[in-house]
Amino acid sequence: MIFSRPIEEVIKMRHSVRNYSDEKVSAEILESTFEYIKEIDNPFQGDVSIYLVTKEDLPGDIKLGTYGMIRGGNYFLIGVSGEENKDKLALGYMLEKAVLFLTDQGLGTVWLGGTFNRSEFEKTVSILGHQKVRIVIPFGYEGGKKSILGMLAGSNRTKRKNFEEIFFDQEKGKPLSEEAAKEFFLPLEMMRQAPSGVNKQPWAAVKKDEEIDFYMTDRTNLSLIDMGIAISHFAISCEEKNIPGRLEQKNKKESNSLGEYIATWSNK
Ligand SMILES: Cc1cc2nc3c(=O)[nH]c(=O)nc-3n(C[C@H](O)[C@H](O)[C@H](O)COP(=O)(O)O)c2cc1C
Repeated sequence: MIFSRPIEEVIKMRHSVRNYSDEKVSAEILESTFEYIKEIDNPFQGDVSIYLVTKEDLPGDIKLGTYGMIRGGNYFLIGVSGEENKDKLALGYMLEKAVLFLTDQGLGTVWLGGTFNRSEFEKTVSILGHQKVRIVIPFGYEGGKKSILGMLAGSNRTKRKNFEEIFFDQEKGKPLSEEAAKEFFLPLEMMRQAPSGVNKQPWAAVKKDEEIDFYMTDRTNLSLIDMGIAISHFAISCEEKNIPGRLEQKNKKESNSLGEYIATWSNK
């Protein structure tokens, strides 16, 4: 096992938390999170930095704001990346692994791609060239009252597209069944449950023999980050269940009616 419980349990536990109690996160957990983040793989070789920031360690004039969306919240992961496609994919992929680590520690998280005060958060990290703070993830123990905005935003927990709507069987030219998915059923199901910006779920996948091609069905600001998150759920599940393979980006592959080709899981 990668975490202290099976990956499918960790993924099921994760949901967006927009209200945090004042309970402190221990120095031990913060330290182990920091160590975990340092070791996260970067298969897309993106330009990404992840910072762990504690509010009480910041100068008093920095006001980390989340536009009324989040109540409480003293701890943040701050995701900085370059602007190329691979940078945004990698940002999603790597930060979601950190989110799953925090979830396994019993902590709540929420991805924020829009509702945070970028200029204040940018004061807390170092940024080079084309890099930008693209994502902020408050974390801590869930508790206390929700804000009204948080309540309105927080009802997508189990709303996801159906398996047959997003996964396809290349040989049969039809939606992928659980039987035909074979060992990939669980990793694909974990991908299906991934979080995405405004719950858009801009992903599809096609199975051919022992390969899975991933496509992006929509291109908004956050879609590449969403793809990275979804592929991260897939890859971490394969890793835990000893399903051989690795992520590749094949030059010859083209976009099709499903969307833009992003990457392939292959064991060739
Ligand atoms: C890349 C990304 C950006 C997001 N940005 C915001 C945001 O700015 N504000 C917010 O309240 N929620 C944001 N979310 C949270 C999503 O709304 C949430 O993950 C989705 O609705 C699914 O709900 P769940 O996380 O409870 O499963 C974001 C999620 C992702 C993956």
